[in-house]
Amino acid sequence: MYSGHQKITTARIAVLREVVRLGINHIDTSDFYGPHITNQLIKEALHPYPEQLRIVTKVGARRDAEGNWPRALAPDELREAVDDNLTNLGLDALDVVNLRVGGLDSPTPGSIAEPFRVLAQMQRAGLIKHLGVSNVTAEQIGEVQSIAPVVCVQNFYHIANRRDDALIDSLAEQGIGYVPFFPLGGFTPLQSETLSNVATRLNARPMSVALAWLLQRSPNILLIPRTSSVEHLRENVAGASLQLPHEAIKELNHAALLRWPGANFTAGRGRAWEGGRGPKLGISAIQQSGTLLMN
Ligand SMILES: NC(=O)c1ccc[n+]([C@@H]2O[C@H](COP(=O)([O-])OP(=O)(O)OC[C@H]3O[C@@H](n4cnc5c(N)ncnc54)[C@H](OP(=O)(O)O)[C@@H]3O)[C@@H](O)[C@H]2O)c1
Repeated sequence: MYSGHQKITTARIAVLREVVRLGINHIDTSDFYGPHITNQLIKEALHPYPEQLRIVTKVGARRDAEGNWPRALAPDELREAVDDNLTNLGLDALDVVNLRVGGLDSPTPGSIAEPFRVLAQMQRAGLIKHLGVSNVTAEQIGEVQSIAPVVCVQNFYHIANRRDDALIDSLAEQGIGYVPFFPLGGFTPLQSETLSNVATRLNARPMSVALAWLLQRSPNILLIPRTSSVEHLRENVAGASLQLPHEAIKELNHAALLRWPGANFTAGRGRAWEGGRGPKLGISAIQQSGTLLMN
């Protein structure tokens, strides 16, 4: 008999294979999604991995019985997390490991040197190729750069939450990737009349416009919109190649009435970016949610 669970697994595997077929070369994951299930699915769908694929994982939290993400930053917890990622992804070395610290809504200031040193040690031992950080402040990034190079930063940012505007510009100058999580609003999907109007004029979907805006915001932005559907995946890839005209970007930048509940909307704060030549598509991403798999 074909169970519901099998159906979901088959659908997730189809999305992952479509990711590679579409030329996407960056998958964002964590072994604490599921836990373990997401990585096991990535392995089942794609191992042995295509040469160009980069799998980016994160450590520093765990999944508790209530579905929360308490911190797991002790040296033993970090080593175990790296080992779990290696095992469940079927790799000898992880492409990129993000040290996730801080809260979901905003980073928590304070030193993160100790847990970062543990990962730097594992990098020297050959288990990790590159290091990144997540849910961090500019000061914390500066602190850990004296320990080992940081190749990417994953923080909460989208068209209606522009708290990291200045940070993005500074990272771009340093050649460090910025990977916004919740690019489509996460648990509270982006909704705005301006977004919809711009999308209608461009014959595109609002979510495509939100992704195109991010890619055109700065050349160091890499996208990781999550989806469980092949249709949304294709739509998101199309969105990434959408070129927003200067006027549309200007309109979006000044749309102070974006209706994102609880939004920290600060259009125009920091450097108002108003277009120019967007980066080429080439890096987009998808992450399979362990939560969805459990539903
Ligand atoms: N570092 C951290 O602390 C942290 C925290 C949160 C998230 N993340 C990472 O950030 C990434 C994205 O975050 P997220 O998944 O929570 O938020 P998101 O990508 O902003 O939103 C995902 C939601 O958007 C929907 N969606 C995707 N494409 C769509 C489309 N074309 N049209 C309409 N709806 C669409 C998805 O539903 P369908 O499945 O139906 O498409 C899903 O419900 C993930 O890789 C996640 O691991 C990191």
